[in-house]
Amino acid sequence: MKKMITALGLGTALAFASQSASAQSFPTQPITIVVPFSAGGPTDTVTRLVAQAMGQDLGQQVVVENVGGAGGTLGAARVAHAEPNGYTLLLHHIGMATTATLYRELPYNALEDFAHVGLVTEVPMVMVGRRDLEADTMAEVIAYVREKGEDVMYANAGIGAASHLCGLLFMNALETQMTTVPYQGTGPALTDLMGGQVDLMCDQTTNTTNQIRDGSIKAFGVTVPERLESLPDVPTASESGLEGFEVTIWHGVYAPKGTPEDVVNRLSQSLKIALKDPTVVERFADLGTAPSPEADATPAALRAKVQSEIDLWRPIIEAAGVYAN
Ligand code: MLT
Repeated sequence: MKKMITALGLGTALAFASQSASAQSFPTQPITIVVPFSAGGPTDTVTRLVAQAMGQDLGQQVVVENVGGAGGTLGAARVAHAEPNGYTLLLHHIGMATTATLYRELPYNALEDFAHVGLVTEVPMVMVGRRDLEADTMAEVIAYVREKGEDVMYANAGIGAASHLCGLLFMNALETQMTTVPYQGTGPALTDLMGGQVDLMCDQTTNTTNQIRDGSIKAFGVTVPERLESLPDVPTASESGLEGFEVTIWHGVYAPKGTPEDVVNRLSQSLKIALKDPTVVERFADLGTAPSPEADATPAALRAKVQSEIDLWRPIIEAAGVYAN
Protein backbone atom coordinates (compact mmCIF):
# COMPACT_ATOMS: atom_id res chain seq x y z
CA MET A 1 0.00 0.00 0.00
CA LYS A 2 2.77 2.42 1.01
CA LYS A 3 4.50 1.76 -2.32
CA MET A 4 1.29 2.63 -4.22
CA ILE A 5 0.81 5.91 -2.32
CA THR A 6 4.45 6.79 -2.99
CA ALA A 7 3.96 5.99 -6.66
CA LEU A 8 0.80 8.11 -6.74
CA GLY A 9 2.60 10.94 -4.95
CA LEU A 10 5.49 10.66 -7.38
CA GLY A 11 3.11 10.66 -10.32
CA THR A 12 1.36 13.81 -9.08
CA ALA A 13 4.65 15.50 -8.38
CA LEU A 14 5.91 14.64 -11.86
CA ALA A 15 2.65 15.87 -13.45
CA PHE A 16 2.91 19.12 -11.50
CA ALA A 17 6.57 19.48 -12.37
CA SER A 18 5.87 18.88 -16.06
CA GLN A 19 3.01 21.44 -15.96
CA SER A 20 5.14 24.15 -14.35
CA ALA A 21 8.03 23.16 -16.63
CA SER A 22 5.66 23.60 -19.59
CA ALA A 23 4.85 27.11 -18.36
CA GLN A 24 8.51 27.92 -17.75
CA SER A 25 9.39 26.96 -21.33
CA PHE A 26 6.10 28.29 -22.81
CA PRO A 27 5.89 29.19 -25.63
CA THR A 28 8.07 26.87 -27.67
CA GLN A 29 6.11 27.31 -30.93
CA PRO A 30 4.06 30.03 -32.69
CA ILE A 31 0.74 31.03 -31.11
CA THR A 32 -2.50 31.57 -33.07
CA ILE A 33 -5.05 34.18 -32.03
CA VAL A 34 -8.41 33.59 -33.70
CA VAL A 35 -10.40 36.69 -34.68
CA PRO A 36 -14.06 35.65 -35.05
CA PHE A 37 -14.67 38.18 -37.84
CA SER A 38 -13.16 38.72 -41.29
CA ALA A 39 -9.85 40.50 -41.83
CA GLY A 40 -9.74 44.29 -42.00
CA GLY A 41 -12.40 44.99 -39.36
CA PRO A 42 -12.14 46.49 -35.86
CA THR A 43 -11.58 43.20 -34.03
CA ASP A 44 -8.88 42.29 -36.55
CA THR A 45 -7.21 45.69 -36.14
CA VAL A 46 -7.09 45.43 -32.34
CA THR A 47 -5.86 41.84 -32.46
CA ARG A 48 -3.02 42.45 -34.93
CA LEU A 49 -1.65 45.27 -32.77
CA VAL A 50 -1.83 43.17 -29.59
CA ALA A 51 -0.49 40.04 -31.33
CA GLN A 52 2.58 41.90 -32.58
CA ALA A 53 3.41 43.20 -29.11
CA MET A 54 2.73 39.87 -27.36
CA GLY A 55 4.96 38.14 -29.90
CA GLN A 56 7.82 40.47 -29.05
CA ASP A 57 7.38 39.75 -25.36
CA LEU A 58 6.98 35.98 -25.75
CA GLY A 59 9.75 35.60 -28.30
CA GLN A 60 7.47 33.61 -30.60
CA GLN A 61 5.39 34.49 -33.64
CA VAL A 62 1.77 35.28 -32.74
CA VAL A 63 -0.29 34.82 -35.90
CA VAL A 64 -3.86 36.01 -36.47
CA GLU A 65 -6.41 33.69 -38.02
CA ASN A 66 -9.78 35.09 -39.14
CA VAL A 67 -12.70 32.71 -38.60
CA GLY A 68 -15.84 34.71 -39.41
CA GLY A 69 -19.51 33.82 -39.39
CA ALA A 70 -22.62 33.69 -37.19
CA GLY A 71 -21.83 36.92 -35.36
CA GLY A 72 -18.48 35.68 -34.08
CA THR A 73 -19.76 32.38 -32.66
CA LEU A 74 -18.00 30.18 -35.25
CA GLY A 75 -14.60 31.57 -34.29
CA ALA A 76 -15.37 31.29 -30.59
CA ALA A 77 -16.45 27.66 -31.05
CA ARG A 78 -13.20 26.92 -32.88
CA VAL A 79 -11.17 28.01 -29.85
CA ALA A 80 -13.49 26.42 -27.28
CA HIS A 81 -12.72 23.04 -28.89
CA ALA A 82 -8.99 23.63 -29.53
CA GLU A 83 -6.14 21.86 -27.72
CA PRO A 84 -5.86 23.52 -24.26
CA ASN A 85 -2.11 24.15 -24.51
CA GLY A 86 -2.00 27.95 -24.82
CA TYR A 87 -1.17 27.92 -28.54
CA THR A 88 -4.71 28.69 -29.75
CA LEU A 89 -6.36 31.81 -28.36
CA LEU A 90 -9.42 33.93 -29.12
CA LEU A 91 -9.72 37.70 -29.09
CA HIS A 92 -13.43 38.54 -28.99
CA HIS A 93 -15.61 41.36 -27.78
CA ILE A 94 -18.98 42.06 -26.16
CA GLY A 95 -20.46 39.49 -28.53
CA MET A 96 -19.07 36.80 -26.20
CA ALA A 97 -21.71 37.89 -23.67
CA THR A 98 -24.62 38.91 -25.92
CA THR A 99 -24.54 35.70 -27.98
CA ALA A 100 -25.04 33.74 -24.76
CA THR A 101 -28.66 34.96 -24.98
CA LEU A 102 -29.03 35.69 -28.71
CA TYR A 103 -28.09 32.12 -29.66
CA ARG A 104 -30.36 29.72 -27.77
CA GLU A 105 -28.14 26.88 -28.99
CA LEU A 106 -24.36 27.37 -28.90
CA PRO A 107 -21.61 24.68 -29.04
CA TYR A 108 -19.88 26.31 -26.10
CA ASN A 109 -20.52 28.19 -22.85
CA ALA A 110 -18.87 31.62 -22.62
CA LEU A 111 -18.01 31.10 -18.96
CA GLU A 112 -17.35 27.38 -18.58
CA ASP A 113 -15.60 26.44 -21.84
CA PHE A 114 -12.81 29.01 -21.74
CA ALA A 115 -9.83 29.98 -19.65
CA HIS A 116 -10.16 33.76 -19.40
CA VAL A 117 -6.86 35.58 -19.98
CA GLY A 118 -7.71 39.28 -19.66
CA LEU A 119 -9.48 42.38 -20.94
CA VAL A 120 -7.85 44.31 -23.80
CA THR A 121 -9.71 47.55 -24.59
CA GLU A 122 -13.15 49.18 -24.61
CA VAL A 123 -13.97 50.83 -27.95
CA PRO A 124 -16.53 53.55 -28.71
CA MET A 125 -18.93 53.17 -31.63
CA VAL A 126 -20.05 55.72 -34.20
CA MET A 127 -23.11 55.87 -36.46
CA VAL A 128 -21.84 56.30 -40.00
CA GLY A 129 -23.42 56.57 -43.45
CA ARG A 130 -22.52 56.53 -47.10
CA ARG A 131 -21.10 59.89 -48.14
CA ASP A 132 -24.03 60.82 -50.42
CA LEU A 133 -26.71 59.87 -47.88
CA GLU A 134 -29.47 62.50 -47.87
CA ALA A 135 -28.70 63.44 -44.22
CA ASP A 136 -25.84 65.32 -42.58
CA THR A 137 -26.74 65.25 -38.88
CA MET A 138 -28.06 62.66 -36.45
CA ALA A 139 -31.40 64.49 -36.38
CA GLU A 140 -31.59 64.25 -40.19
CA VAL A 141 -30.61 60.55 -40.09
CA ILE A 142 -33.34 59.88 -37.53
CA ALA A 143 -35.90 61.62 -39.76
CA TYR A 144 -34.54 59.77 -42.82
CA VAL A 145 -34.82 56.35 -41.13
CA ARG A 146 -38.28 57.09 -39.75
CA GLU A 147 -39.42 58.09 -43.25
CA LYS A 148 -37.69 55.33 -45.26
CA GLY A 149 -37.91 52.46 -42.72
CA GLU A 150 -37.09 49.12 -44.34
CA ASP A 151 -35.82 50.84 -47.48
CA VAL A 152 -32.73 51.78 -45.43
CA MET A 153 -29.95 49.19 -45.79
CA TYR A 154 -28.19 48.81 -42.40
CA ALA A 155 -24.92 46.82 -42.50
CA ASN A 156 -23.67 44.67 -39.63
CA ALA A 157 -21.42 41.66 -38.93
CA GLY A 158 -24.22 39.23 -38.10
CA ILE A 159 -26.48 38.63 -35.10
CA GLY A 160 -24.35 39.04 -31.98
CA ALA A 161 -21.87 41.43 -33.54
CA ALA A 162 -21.29 44.83 -31.94
CA SER A 163 -22.64 46.42 -35.11
CA HIS A 164 -25.79 44.31 -34.71
CA LEU A 165 -26.17 45.32 -31.06
CA CYS A 166 -25.77 49.02 -31.79
CA GLY A 167 -28.23 48.75 -34.68
CA LEU A 168 -30.73 47.01 -32.39
CA LEU A 169 -30.47 49.82 -29.82
CA PHE A 170 -30.79 52.43 -32.59
CA MET A 171 -33.90 50.84 -34.15
CA ASN A 172 -35.43 50.44 -30.67
CA ALA A 173 -34.78 54.12 -29.94
CA LEU A 174 -36.42 55.15 -33.23
CA GLU A 175 -39.13 52.48 -33.01
CA THR A 176 -38.39 51.84 -36.69
CA GLN A 177 -37.05 48.76 -38.48
CA MET A 178 -34.39 49.00 -41.19
CA THR A 179 -33.29 46.18 -43.52
CA THR A 180 -30.20 44.49 -42.10
CA VAL A 181 -27.42 43.41 -44.46
CA PRO A 182 -25.10 40.94 -42.63
CA TYR A 183 -21.39 40.51 -43.42
CA GLN A 184 -18.63 38.27 -42.03
CA GLY A 185 -17.17 41.42 -40.46
CA THR A 186 -17.44 45.19 -40.63
CA GLY A 187 -14.28 45.31 -42.71
CA PRO A 188 -16.12 44.20 -45.86
CA ALA A 189 -19.25 46.03 -44.68
CA LEU A 190 -17.31 49.30 -44.59
CA THR A 191 -16.08 48.70 -48.14
CA ASP A 192 -19.70 48.44 -49.31
CA LEU A 193 -20.70 51.51 -47.29
CA MET A 194 -17.92 53.47 -48.98
CA GLY A 195 -19.14 52.12 -52.32
CA GLY A 196 -22.72 53.17 -51.59
CA GLN A 197 -24.10 49.60 -51.65
CA VAL A 198 -25.50 50.07 -48.12
CA ASP A 199 -26.73 53.20 -46.33
CA LEU A 200 -25.87 53.09 -42.62
CA MET A 201 -23.79 51.21 -40.08
CA CYS A 202 -22.92 51.58 -36.41
CA ASP A 203 -19.33 50.45 -36.11
CA GLN A 204 -16.35 50.80 -33.82
CA THR A 205 -14.05 53.80 -34.16
CA THR A 206 -11.12 51.37 -34.59
CA ASN A 207 -12.53 50.64 -38.05
CA THR A 208 -14.07 53.93 -39.17
CA THR A 209 -11.88 56.78 -37.89
CA ASN A 210 -9.68 57.11 -40.97
CA GLN A 211 -12.61 56.94 -43.40
CA ILE A 212 -14.47 59.61 -41.41
CA ARG A 213 -11.38 61.83 -41.47
CA ASP A 214 -10.87 61.49 -45.23
CA GLY A 215 -14.56 62.05 -45.97
CA SER A 216 -15.23 58.72 -47.61
CA ILE A 217 -18.08 58.17 -45.15
CA LYS A 218 -20.24 60.49 -43.03
CA ALA A 219 -20.33 60.36 -39.20
CA PHE A 220 -23.44 61.33 -37.26
CA GLY A 221 -22.69 60.60 -33.61
CA VAL A 222 -20.40 58.68 -31.27
CA THR A 223 -21.91 56.38 -28.64
CA VAL A 224 -20.02 57.76 -25.63
CA PRO A 225 -20.90 60.62 -23.22
CA GLU A 226 -18.03 62.91 -24.31
CA ARG A 227 -16.68 63.77 -27.78
CA LEU A 228 -13.53 61.87 -28.78
CA GLU A 229 -10.16 63.62 -29.15
CA SER A 230 -9.64 61.45 -32.23
CA LEU A 231 -12.90 62.72 -33.82
CA PRO A 232 -13.47 66.15 -32.22
CA ASP A 233 -15.94 67.30 -34.90
CA VAL A 234 -18.27 64.32 -34.45
CA PRO A 235 -20.98 65.07 -31.88
CA THR A 236 -22.05 62.54 -29.29
CA ALA A 237 -25.34 60.74 -29.91
CA SER A 238 -26.68 62.32 -26.73
CA GLU A 239 -25.96 65.90 -27.82
CA SER A 240 -27.54 65.02 -31.19
CA GLY A 241 -30.88 64.14 -29.68
CA LEU A 242 -30.40 60.45 -28.83
CA GLU A 243 -30.16 60.96 -25.07
CA GLY A 244 -28.34 58.11 -23.35
CA PHE A 245 -27.54 56.28 -26.60
CA GLU A 246 -24.26 54.88 -25.30
CA VAL A 247 -22.53 51.58 -25.99
CA THR A 248 -18.85 50.68 -25.86
CA ILE A 249 -17.31 47.42 -27.04
CA TRP A 250 -15.05 45.67 -24.57
CA HIS A 251 -12.64 43.01 -25.86
CA GLY A 252 -10.99 40.06 -24.12
CA VAL A 253 -8.49 37.27 -24.78
CA TYR A 254 -9.53 33.65 -24.12
CA ALA A 255 -7.90 30.21 -24.18
CA PRO A 256 -9.68 26.86 -24.17
CA LYS A 257 -10.84 25.47 -20.81
CA GLY A 258 -8.14 23.25 -19.32
CA THR A 259 -5.20 25.38 -20.46
CA PRO A 260 -2.63 25.05 -17.62
CA GLU A 261 -3.00 27.89 -15.11
CA ASP A 262 0.71 28.74 -15.32
CA VAL A 263 0.36 29.16 -19.09
CA VAL A 264 -2.76 31.31 -18.71
CA ASN A 265 -0.91 33.51 -16.21
CA ARG A 266 2.06 33.83 -18.57
CA LEU A 267 -0.32 34.89 -21.36
CA SER A 268 -1.98 37.42 -19.05
CA GLN A 269 1.44 38.80 -18.11
CA SER A 270 2.31 39.11 -21.81
CA LEU A 271 -1.02 40.82 -22.52
CA LYS A 272 -0.29 43.38 -19.79
CA ILE A 273 3.12 44.07 -21.34
CA ALA A 274 1.54 44.37 -24.81
CA LEU A 275 -1.02 46.89 -23.53
CA LYS A 276 1.84 49.13 -22.40
CA ASP A 277 3.65 48.87 -25.73
CA PRO A 278 4.05 52.44 -27.12
CA THR A 279 2.83 51.40 -30.59
CA VAL A 280 -0.30 49.79 -29.14
CA VAL A 281 -1.01 52.81 -26.91
CA GLU A 282 -0.46 55.26 -29.78
CA ARG A 283 -2.48 53.37 -32.41
CA PHE A 284 -5.33 52.74 -29.97
CA ALA A 285 -5.44 56.47 -29.11
CA ASP A 286 -5.42 57.47 -32.78
CA LEU A 287 -8.41 55.16 -33.34
CA GLY A 288 -10.41 56.49 -30.40
CA THR A 289 -9.68 53.94 -27.73
CA ALA A 290 -7.17 53.01 -25.00
CA PRO A 291 -5.77 49.80 -23.51
CA SER A 292 -7.64 48.32 -20.54
CA PRO A 293 -6.03 49.09 -17.15
CA GLU A 294 -3.47 46.52 -16.01
CA ALA A 295 -5.78 45.30 -13.23
CA ASP A 296 -8.35 44.36 -15.91
CA ALA A 297 -5.93 42.39 -18.07
CA THR A 298 -6.37 39.45 -15.70
CA PRO A 299 -8.29 36.16 -15.80
CA ALA A 300 -10.53 37.11 -12.87
CA ALA A 301 -11.41 40.52 -14.31
CA LEU A 302 -12.36 39.10 -17.71
CA ARG A 303 -14.44 36.27 -16.26
CA ALA A 304 -16.28 38.73 -14.01
CA LYS A 305 -16.89 41.02 -17.01
CA VAL A 306 -18.35 38.20 -19.11
CA GLN A 307 -20.66 37.18 -16.26
CA SER A 308 -21.86 40.72 -15.54
CA GLU A 309 -22.42 41.50 -19.23
CA ILE A 310 -24.38 38.28 -19.80
CA ASP A 311 -26.58 39.34 -16.87
CA LEU A 312 -26.86 42.93 -18.19
CA TRP A 313 -27.81 42.12 -21.79
CA ARG A 314 -30.04 39.08 -21.23
CA PRO A 315 -33.19 41.06 -20.24
CA ILE A 316 -32.55 43.67 -22.95
CA ILE A 317 -32.30 41.00 -25.65
CA GLU A 318 -35.26 39.03 -24.27
CA ALA A 319 -37.37 42.22 -24.30
CA ALA A 320 -36.40 42.81 -27.95
CA GLY A 321 -37.29 39.19 -28.69
CA VAL A 322 -34.58 38.95 -31.34
CA TYR A 323 -32.79 35.59 -31.41
CA ALA A 324 -30.40 33.98 -33.87
CA ASN A 325 -31.82 30.46 -33.41
C1 MLT B 1 -18.66 43.63 -34.91
O1 MLT B 1 -19.03 43.08 -33.90
O2 MLT B 1 -19.33 44.39 -35.61
C2 MLT B 1 -17.28 43.32 -35.23
O3 MLT B 1 -16.47 44.18 -34.52
C3 MLT B 1 -17.03 43.34 -36.67
C4 MLT B 1 -15.61 43.10 -36.98
O4 MLT B 1 -14.74 43.13 -36.08
O5 MLT B 1 -15.36 42.87 -38.16
